[in-house]
Amino acid sequence: MFTEMDFTGTYLPQGLFVCFEGGEGSGKSTQSRLLAERLESLGHVVRLTFEPGDTRVGAELRRIVLSPETGQLSDRTEVLLYAADKAEHVDTVVVPALERGEVVITDRYVDTTLAYQGAGRGLAIGEVEEVARWATGDLRPHLTVVLDVDPRDGLGRFEGRDRIEAESLDFHQRARQSVLDLAAADPDHYLVLDARADRDELAARILERVTPLLARATAAAEARG
Ligand SMILES: Nc1ncnc2c1ncn2[C@@H]1O[C@H](COP(=O)(O)OP(=O)(O)OP(=O)(O)O)[C@@H](O)[C@H]1O
Ligand SMILES: [Mg+2]
Repeated sequence: MFTEMDFTGTYLPQGLFVCFEGGEGSGKSTQSRLLAERLESLGHVVRLTFEPGDTRVGAELRRIVLSPETGQLSDRTEVLLYAADKAEHVDTVVVPALERGEVVITDRYVDTTLAYQGAGRGLAIGEVEEVARWATGDLRPHLTVVLDVDPRDGLGRFEGRDRIEAESLDFHQRARQSVLDLAAADPDHYLVLDARADRDELAARILERVTPLLARATAAAEARG
């Protein structure tokens, strides 16, 4: 097991790993799709993916953790189910694509667990982090885009609530602050944007930040031939 000192992060030398984080309804799915389309049009091989649930096992785990029918779950069970989804996702989807020199864009990743299961549920964040980092081999995105939104605005953008969305405003406020703290502590690997901006303006600012990072993906894909 890691000690907390060991959380220095693994950044793969091949490929480009971009993550979208932010509250419910902040535009993660919209912006990850727009970025994927743009990078594909520039000739990159892009794997657009998400957590939880973008593997066969992950889809079953997602159903359990998000379905209101699940009802109450032990907080630690919830952490472990999310961690299992992450392990499967990283090992079978994210790392293989990065090793091929592709661009991987994920809609949510480890920060979501730190924010929701750690800050939100009020579990010891160091313990949640230990589990999540172990599950992912401490693999980190080269860039995490945080679409920051007041939960009162984000939750108002849609109707119908899953188990997490149905949590209190206070839960979502704590989660929001937690992600902002992670970003503030590591500005080289984070871009924080006000999610209220127009979607095309957000897409342009994200592309601007991603563009200098693309050389690593292109170089790896070309080396492969
Ligand atoms: N910049 C924007 N301004 C206004 N509305 C937006 C913007 N971006 C997305 N939306 C709208 O807000 C809603 C939520 O967007 P989206 O599904 O991309 O967010 P999300 O972060 O993926 O949400 P969830 O947390 O539910 O997965 C959608 O109806 C979308 O069309
Ligand atoms: Mg979404």
